Amino acid sequence: MLRPLEMAHQFLAEVITKEDIVVDATMGNGHDTLFLAERAKKVFAFDIQEQAIEQTRTRLEMAGLTNAELILAGHEQLDIYVEEVKAGIFNLGYLPSADKSIITQPNTTILALEKLCQRLVLGGRIAMMVYYGHEGGVCERDAVLDFVSQLPQREFTVTIYQTLNQINHPPFLLMLEKLKEYNHG
Ligand SMILES: C[S@@+](CC[C@H](N)C(=O)[O-])C[C@H]1O[C@@H](n2cnc3c(N)ncnc32)[C@H](O)[C@@H]1O
Repeated sequence: MLRPLEMAHQFLAEVITKEDIVVDATMGNGHDTLFLAERAKKVFAFDIQEQAIEQTRTRLEMAGLTNAELILAGHEQLDIYVEEVKAGIFNLGYLPSADKSIITQPNTTILALEKLCQRLVLGGRIAMMVYYGHEGGVCERDAVLDFVSQLPQREFTVTIYQTLNQINHPPFLLMLEKLKEYNHG
């Protein structure tokens, strides 16, 4: 069975082509940026920490990839950089190797998600890994669940992928797809 992050990548890989613009909303150590850069035409990757930019730049250089723009800014500003997007990924929470007090925040996460939903092309997809074991994580989890639950079903399909029998706070995955055709049902 796929782990949530593996499922996130598979979900996005199904729609990304070499013609597409995609977004990594939480660059961190650059694992997702690399994954996207290998498949898309161009990646716009965001993080508020210089360390994330450096780690990701190194990772991409080692892979010989030059099609990612690494942006030192909050993902809530993504509308300044992108217009039409085929796919996007969020990994909420903190960067494990860095200051654990620097975490994604409910209000900016929702703002970014809302903007990305608006810019998503028909048939486009967003994957969001929700980590909520840290302080403030439950608040963000609930805000995100509230937001995605209210997306109109005629425009988006929203799915959750979550293990139900694990101890502690296993992360779960939200998958959003913007429908290709207006759903009259
Ligand atoms: C769980 S980590 C991301 C891990 C990353 N996807 C990887 O592959 O290593 C979360 C990241 O979100 C970043 N972050 C926090 N607030 C942010 C914001 N408003 N905009 C963009 N990134 C933010 C943190 O600095 C941290 O690097």
